[in-house]
Amino acid sequence: MISQTLREARKFEEASEKLIKKEDRPAFHLSVRTGWLNDPNGFGWYQGKYHLFYQYHPYSSQWGPMHWGHAVSSDLLHWEYLPAALAPDEFYDRDGCFSGSAIELPDGRHLLMYTGVSKERQKNGSFCDVQTQCLAVGDGMDYEKYENNPVLDEAVLPKGSSRFDFRDPKLWRQDDGTYCCVIGNRSADESGQVLLFTSEDGFHWQYKSVLAANKNRFGKMWECPDFFSLDRKQVLLASPMDMLPQGFEYHNGNGTLCLIGSYDEASCTFADEAHQAIDYGIDFYAPQTILTPDGRRVMIGWMQNWDTCSIHAPEKLWFGQMSLPRELSIKNGRLYQAPVRELEQLRHNKVEYRAVPVCGTVSLEGIKGRKVDMELTVRPESREKLYQKFAIRFAQNEEYRTSVSFRPHEQTLKIDRKFSGSRRAIIHQRRCRVSSGDEALKLRLILDQYSAEIFINDGEQVMTATMYTEKEADSISFFADGKAEIDVVKYDLS
Ligand code: FRU
Repeated sequence: MISQTLREARKFEEASEKLIKKEDRPAFHLSVRTGWLNDPNGFGWYQGKYHLFYQYHPYSSQWGPMHWGHAVSSDLLHWEYLPAALAPDEFYDRDGCFSGSAIELPDGRHLLMYTGVSKERQKNGSFCDVQTQCLAVGDGMDYEKYENNPVLDEAVLPKGSSRFDFRDPKLWRQDDGTYCCVIGNRSADESGQVLLFTSEDGFHWQYKSVLAANKNRFGKMWECPDFFSLDRKQVLLASPMDMLPQGFEYHNGNGTLCLIGSYDEASCTFADEAHQAIDYGIDFYAPQTILTPDGRRVMIGWMQNWDTCSIHAPEKLWFGQMSLPRELSIKNGRLYQAPVRELEQLRHNKVEYRAVPVCGTVSLEGIKGRKVDMELTVRPESREKLYQKFAIRFAQNEEYRTSVSFRPHEQTLKIDRKFSGSRRAIIHQRRCRVSSGDEALKLRLILDQYSAEIFINDGEQVMTATMYTEKEADSISFFADGKAEIDVVKYDLS
């Protein structure tokens, strides 16, 4: 049975979507059907298609009572909208169906696990969100909430853990047919922890362990955890709130964290050996991963950040897009990311230049556009003669530009979207430390109308930022203070 609330949302989104022109959306990134989108949810492969759900408020381009939007794709790049899957329509989720995940059950049904939110009046008159874990079962189109919801609530929490910050279950099926999930939680020390739960059938859940504790090292509460093995290592991803900056690695506010380490089966705990940011740009948060049928670990994130949402004018009909799906691997103890290989099928109009000297500003015939895949190698004249600065400027016209610039002496790469039409005093620039100072720098820049994703040195680091510059601003140019030499291979994407 589909509730009235969900029926209304479905009716609304169908009508409202028609008001948004296709050409005003990104071409190969999933954007919200209408209204507001945040985290990716329920990402997975189900009955021959990739399914991607998302945190969704259809009725305005601002965050509101959370629904789950829904889309499917066969190549992770072209998405088709399906009707909204979940609406806040039960006593345990009346204030929102928050983030969660999905798997296929052995009998072919699709199981969604999400956080139900209901406000509770406190003694001082204020309201707090009580968060519990809930299930819904469906066929890839319609979902029915489980009669015994919620399946996990405060009763299972370790002593001192908060029932107000207990969210974002990520579940998976083990080789032996049993189920596990990790959930973000605020611990007694006011910081974050990731809890591990197990189940025989996907419906009855037991608390297992504190898989990992933040101990106030990386921000406070950890949102949207994900846990998987990759290249013989164990990886824990989380999106910490309230970060303090650490050098060029982490920035203030909501950030992303990748912990690489090992899992101890006896104690059901994870020990981290290395840590790093997942994305070094401005807009990337709450990623979720899947294992594709051909064995790739693919991650997709919300291409925005809570701290910079005001970049968008509220009167616009839509706000929110996902990042490119990225293939993950571990090399030299670090997380590497590459755009999914499916992207190569979208390439056409190849334009190539070799050994072009750049000194001052250079534009190259055929190099422009807002839906672009561009590979660039930048070399100094010699190791002794480094240029001061090299920049690529894009989404550019007389008025606007966004840029990526590299300073080899400082070994820093900077993304700057200050001149992209934003009217808000928010963060518009961010830098990251790049290891290859005096050697060739390799960049792959992917533009899709309103976003730039920069894969640095074969994906050793990534910087992501959105820019809502008018799309007629489509020039690209190169600049060097000093002498640089570049190789460029550029494709249009569609
Ligand atoms: C992360 C998050 C989640 C929560 C959802 C609410 O961006 O805050 O922790 O489930 O968004 O929309």
